[in-house]
Amino acid sequence: MALVGCGSDLPTQIITNEALSQRVNTNDEWIRNRTGITTRRIAGPGETITTLGLRAGQAALHHAGWSAKDLDLILLATSTPDDLFGSAPKIQGELGATQAVAFDITAACSGFLFALITAGQYFRSGSIRRALIIGADQLSRWVNWDDRRTCILFGDGAAAVAVEECPTEENGLLGFRMRSDGSRTDCLNLRQIPDIMPLINQSKYQMGGFNQISMNGQEVYKFAVREIPAVLQELLIATNINSCAIDWLLLHQANQRILNAVADRFDIPHEKVLTNLAHYGNTSAATIPLMLDEAVKDGRIQSGNLIASSGFGAGLSWGAALLRWKGPG
Ligand code: UT7
Repeated sequence: MALVGCGSDLPTQIITNEALSQRVNTNDEWIRNRTGITTRRIAGPGETITTLGLRAGQAALHHAGWSAKDLDLILLATSTPDDLFGSAPKIQGELGATQAVAFDITAACSGFLFALITAGQYFRSGSIRRALIIGADQLSRWVNWDDRRTCILFGDGAAAVAVEECPTEENGLLGFRMRSDGSRTDCLNLRQIPDIMPLINQSKYQMGGFNQISMNGQEVYKFAVREIPAVLQELLIATNINSCAIDWLLLHQANQRILNAVADRFDIPHEKVLTNLAHYGNTSAATIPLMLDEAVKDGRIQSGNLIASSGFGAGLSWGAALLRWKGPG
């Protein structure tokens, strides 16, 4: 498959570190030093996964020069759908992508990469020609806004990539690795509240509802700086590609210190490390395509560039992919 278009959409509300310090006992210096984040976007009234994902999808279609009717598949990577049955079909309907099957993929901050890799398998089997992969999350719905250890990290956003079938020599997914470790799920989760309600006579049912995000930041940090270099290393060996050949390191944007630690491990100069964390914080499934879109649109990522990408987060889940950007036309 070839990556030929991208687009993004963000909420309009900008929340600064200073503003957050009016809500919780924190300050700009701590947040910037420990995370690299200065502002984040938070969805306000009327902004949802569906509206953000739709606009990101439309922007990617426009960039690729496609009509929505050209699509065979829409994957929405999100852990915060507007509808627990899935938000992808709503986006498909609003796009007018009448020929496309659409469904959600839930894998937290690894979601976009997992969805892109999943789409790659449909292309390999020759069953689709054009797909739209959207990464969108609205974690502000589930953040505990009184917990300074988590609320400073997250933001909302959506971004999408248009991918199409191509000759083998133009394949943009050069290799990948995917991992899960459910034994460490306690480190980061957003769990169902076990609310037991009476049904009829002695029967009971569990009423739906979720807690807020719970995270052991230090454990997740240690997990990321250990597993991401390991999985990238494994991928480079398997594909026989030297880290010098990488044009851009495009990691899930969770913490600037994690990005720097991974780059240092591979001797990748910091100029090759794509980062927009300062402006948007951790937008979960949206971070990788959001960063890709920004770097493509400002001309940093050029057609033919090799991108080493890695996503990681709740599950725990993580993965890596070597991508070659083609661009439209
Ligand atoms: O998509 C994956 C999602 N998650 C991640 O990638 C998170 C990975 N983890 C991290 O990025 C870092 O662990 C954090 C940024 C979450 C926290 O940074 P840290 O350097 O691990 O801080 P810490 O939790 O060890 O806390 C250090 C101190 C504590 O004070 P004491 O106990 O030393 O007095 C905290 O209470 O900083 C305090 N603290 C804060 N102070 C001001 C924690 N949060 C804040 C805050 N403002 N927002």
